[in-house]
Amino acid sequence: MVRAEFGSEFEWGVSSAAFQTEGAWDAEGKGHSIWDVFTGRKGKIKDAQHARIACNFYHCYREDIALVRALNIPNFRFSVAWPRIFPAGVGQPNPKGMDFYERVVDHCLELGITPWLTLYHWDLPQALQDKGGWTNRDILFWMEEYAGYVTRRLGDRVKHWMVLNEPAVFTGAGYFFGVHAPGLTGLRNFFPAAHHATLAMGQIGRLIRSEVRGAQIGTTFSCSSIHPASGGERDVKAAIRADALINRLFIEPILGMGYPIDDLKALRGIEKYMQVGDEKALPFDFDFIGIQNYTREVVASSFFVPYLQARLVPAAKRKVPGITAMGWEVFPPAIYEMIKKFSAYPGIPKLFVTENGAAFPDQVVSGRVKDQQRLSYLQDHLGQVLRAKREGLNVHGYFVWTLTDNFEWAEGYHAPFGLVHVDFATQQRTVKDSGHWYASFLSEQ
Ligand code: FCB
Repeated sequence: MVRAEFGSEFEWGVSSAAFQTEGAWDAEGKGHSIWDVFTGRKGKIKDAQHARIACNFYHCYREDIALVRALNIPNFRFSVAWPRIFPAGVGQPNPKGMDFYERVVDHCLELGITPWLTLYHWDLPQALQDKGGWTNRDILFWMEEYAGYVTRRLGDRVKHWMVLNEPAVFTGAGYFFGVHAPGLTGLRNFFPAAHHATLAMGQIGRLIRSEVRGAQIGTTFSCSSIHPASGGERDVKAAIRADALINRLFIEPILGMGYPIDDLKALRGIEKYMQVGDEKALPFDFDFIGIQNYTREVVASSFFVPYLQARLVPAAKRKVPGITAMGWEVFPPAIYEMIKKFSAYPGIPKLFVTENGAAFPDQVVSGRVKDQQRLSYLQDHLGQVLRAKREGLNVHGYFVWTLTDNFEWAEGYHAPFGLVHVDFATQQRTVKDSGHWYASFLSEQ
């Protein structure tokens, strides 16, 4: 497999996120995010780890962006931390916070790297969570203020914008299961959060279109291929319900198809939060959609799981050959199946894989990290992307998650995904074998 087989227009990149890498949690006027607060709560993060320093990207951004260059990666996706820009969520902006992202963008451009900017990768200002966060419809105004400011400051240099990162995960894990920030639970939190997140994608998409000339506007969705645990009717139906929740809930209203209530009746509860005019406000014609895939899910019918009446059978129980440090099955055809599924939707001009990668424990031995499992994972997944591309499916780019090992949310530092190893005691970076491989793959024309 060589780069040229994907065509010269295919976009190659690497993705990261502010909270997972920046550290500098209270530097130069930054306000607290929900993740700063959540990581301080007992029992929420493995080994009580936090991201107050993380990869220190706030101070090491020049070195890390130079690594992107050294690895021949032409596109760098990162996110802006909202509480750096507006410490209280809205109101008075913090000029030093904005200056930081100006420097990041300028440094990318100096090195010939195209910046791809995510506006919201989960680190909501705590001040806004104190008013209900995503459950409060005012989030639409709050986010307009924030996005308006950032687009006006960076829109002359940044042309690739993503509104949200994985609404299914930050509303599901954060507002239903309570395992991510802000740690809320139940449908009365999940439904309004989900509806407001869906509305925000269109509303902020429209704002970017009016503010940034020549913008490529996207938003990103988590997705997993869903396989029924058996051929029995019960499991097959359970898989359809799980698919509606995991893969369809957020994309379909954007495409003007409404929420997938027919296939998951419990979603009817979302209608309570709909206001007059919302149906028209939900759709937006994005220039691209980012899909982020890591694995598949095997689903069995279950009477014990309320609403969904389905459960995910863990990879460990299925005795599959490859399992990552996240407990996820290594299943490369999943990425092909997801490209195929999203390609079948009418109204998506371009799909990019904006995240794909794997966490395995690594060791630095004599200055080298032999991460053969990650390397094979990436090659096998790229093979499936190429298969999709050859079949004429709508895939136009691929971004590895992620550049450097970083703070993996509830897993803390126990799930390293980087192409570059980080020794968190010294902040020493070591390019892993997978990073060297990606660099040489990208250098071949
Ligand atoms: C995705 C997130 C990203 C990272 C990877 C492993 O769900 O967008 O921040 O945690 O998973």
